[in-house]
Amino acid sequence: MRSKIVAGNWKMNNSAKESKKLVKQIQNNITNLTLENTRVIVAPSFVYLQKVAKKTKGSPIEVAAQNMNQAAKGAFTGEISAEMLKSIHIDTVILGHSERREYYGETDAILAEKVKAALANNLEIIFCFGEVLEDRKSGKHFEVVKSQITNALFDLSAEDWSNIVLAYEPVWAIGTGETASPDQAQEMHAFIRDLVAQKYTQHLAENVSILYGGSVKPSNAEEIFSKADVDGGLIGGASLNAEDFTAIIKAI
Ligand code: 13P
Repeated sequence: MRSKIVAGNWKMNNSAKESKKLVKQIQNNITNLTLENTRVIVAPSFVYLQKVAKKTKGSPIEVAAQNMNQAAKGAFTGEISAEMLKSIHIDTVILGHSERREYYGETDAILAEKVKAALANNLEIIFCFGEVLEDRKSGKHFEVVKSQITNALFDLSAEDWSNIVLAYEPVWAIGTGETASPDQAQEMHAFIRDLVAQKYTQHLAENVSILYGGSVKPSNAEEIFSKADVDGGLIGGASLNAEDFTAIIKAI
């Protein structure tokens, strides 16, 4: 059975003190919740990964990295490898976020390499993709999403997919306050699941968690999460506020 997941992508936010405070508040808020088949993940900046992981040890909160380099090691100033993440006991990494694609030139080909490097180091991947507004307006959103998934993930083996979580994040809904409607999210998620089923098997596709990301807030989370193929959310802005993030967790 696929897991439900609420993941907070903190992006380039929070000081060390704020990061510790935020995770502590979330932890306090969720101690008495029954999280049945639900995972809670936070993705702080690289520099706080160890601190936050230490704070969350023994709690249901998991810690993920926001990115990594595709190379194993070498002269790549400022970069972080999969092995480095594993060496500090980080087991999950977000790859393919639209901000990485847009501002740092991460193409499908680069992402395919990153995916392979992460899997080779036994990291779980939250793989993000999604169309820009123009694609949606011109009715190309299914085609764009299909090619993003195909190019980066469809030469993986069926076994590899046990370490893949998909995150559909329409770029026009990220940080804009504009959310895909629950029906738009469901339509795309069902399309994605079908795509995976056609390439692999129905059974494999049924076991892949597909998250929605883009302006998820306490006020809209429940309706979005109620859709059959929406298995949770990748939350940006609202994950920086412990009360909002907790309310989103409760909505799942
Ligand atoms: P917002 O929730 O701020 O729209 O960000 C979504 C996102 O990019 C999560 O990765």
